[in-house]
Amino acid sequence: MKQHLVIFDTTLRDGEQSPGASMTKEEKIRVARQLEKMRVDVIEAGFAAASPGDFDAIQAIAHAIKDSTVCSLARANENDIRRAGEAIKPAKSGRIHTFIATSPIHMEKKLRMTPDQVVEQAVKAIGWAREYTDDVEFSAEDAGRSEIDFLVRIFDEVIKAGATTINVPDTVGYNIPDQYAETIRQLIQRVPNADKVVWSVHCHNDLGLAVANSLGAVMAGARQVECTINGLGERAGNASLEEVVMAVRTRSDIFPVETRIDTTQIVPASKLVSQITGYPVQPNKAVVGANAFAHESGIHQDGVLKHRETYEIMRAQDVGWTQNKLVLGKHSGRNAFKSRLLELGIEFESDEVLNAAFARFKELADRKHEIFDEDLHALVSDEVVTPDQEFYKLVYSNVCSETGEMPFARVILNVGGVEKKGEAGGGGPVDATFKAIESIVGSGAELLLYSVNAITTGTDAQGEVTTRLAKAERIVNGNGADTDIVIASARSYLNALNKLHSSLDKVRAQGDI
Ligand code: KIV
Ligand code: ZN
Repeated sequence: MKQHLVIFDTTLRDGEQSPGASMTKEEKIRVARQLEKMRVDVIEAGFAAASPGDFDAIQAIAHAIKDSTVCSLARANENDIRRAGEAIKPAKSGRIHTFIATSPIHMEKKLRMTPDQVVEQAVKAIGWAREYTDDVEFSAEDAGRSEIDFLVRIFDEVIKAGATTINVPDTVGYNIPDQYAETIRQLIQRVPNADKVVWSVHCHNDLGLAVANSLGAVMAGARQVECTINGLGERAGNASLEEVVMAVRTRSDIFPVETRIDTTQIVPASKLVSQITGYPVQPNKAVVGANAFAHESGIHQDGVLKHRETYEIMRAQDVGWTQNKLVLGKHSGRNAFKSRLLELGIEFESDEVLNAAFARFKELADRKHEIFDEDLHALVSDEVVTPDQEFYKLVYSNVCSETGEMPFARVILNVGGVEKKGEAGGGGPVDATFKAIESIVGSGAELLLYSVNAITTGTDAQGEVTTRLAKAERIVNGNGADTDIVIASARSYLNALNKLHSSLDKVRAQGDI
């Protein structure tokens, strides 16, 4: 009998800490619904005390999600824990995840606390958390560089205080598979009542070892893996959910565990997260990269045609790769549009937003006869914005681009209700358009990234543009999609400017407890 491996997804919390990956509440709800559909066990929905926006999003997810546990992160202090407790209250199943650092360097230099004080604070934290829920996770931040004797001591104390999951994060991605697995094995052997709790791992990918470390830990007894879609996360990211899940499934001859993940939802989840955060997936990324199942060399193609398993260890359709599916066309009505979106887990807050999205769908269907799920996701990403997120709106754009001449762009923007005109020349049509927009807005933001991807195949595909802007220590990603990539670029740039303009991006909670 295989044991259950708990899949704890932290895309909405650790993943969201990637530069510019901040998501709106509506976007977070869409991701959470997809995670629920994929049958993730625990969704870490955010860090309630980080900002009112985080709190609201966690609360909304706690209301919306029924089949996964909804969790909020909290530092080991009373205010954080009470905020987390309030945020998860509406959840059918809610968890508080509290943490404090345990490595000598973090305790001394960051917390400026003695080990005794850290243990005392951790025990108090569990007590506060247990006032809200019986499902309490404790993380020893930077456990990967902590002393094992101290970990044994603090874990013993927090288990006595009522923690039900014990997490051993490799916060800085410093560990090596054998060594990390040995740490987990020793902890499980030495901590009293280790069999009464779930042992969890949370690995960062600074040395490219997050998945290997997590899997090694599973072999040593860990029964929860914390991970993110596409491996999104701080710096080099977290362990990638799709790689962990598919390794356990593909090598079921080795792993003594199984997950309850519906693997056919992996690729849709990957695309959704990439589209919303503006973080593209590298083509050679395992499982979800565009080339993950593409065989280029003649020898491989020949082998696969003769017998698929000569070169393929997984089936593309098992992880959700399907032919682009034609879902709607120009004759589809509002109801068909609405019900397809519902099937994709997308609900609109008001009929007004639905109508606006439907109008854009009709416009798109006129230019592009076949509309795929990917097009709908992009369209909705563009459309689901509240008025305060759309201070700058594109009214009109025109670009002249001809051989031997400098491209020239004219734009009209609606700026907080007032129409304004701008124009500029540039190195290319996109450059000219951005300069024309800047001639009106004058944001002074620095362009960190500009990328274009075709959403589906064919030259009539929508181009999806990501623009990353930085201003005064804030970094935001903007997205825009259109069959005309200059218009997609303008939308994406304005989307980023709107994020800079709105209060969406939070001031991150600081490191003190
Ligand atoms: O990396 C880390 O240590 C974390 C903890 C808060 C679990 O993200
Ligand atoms: Zn982390």
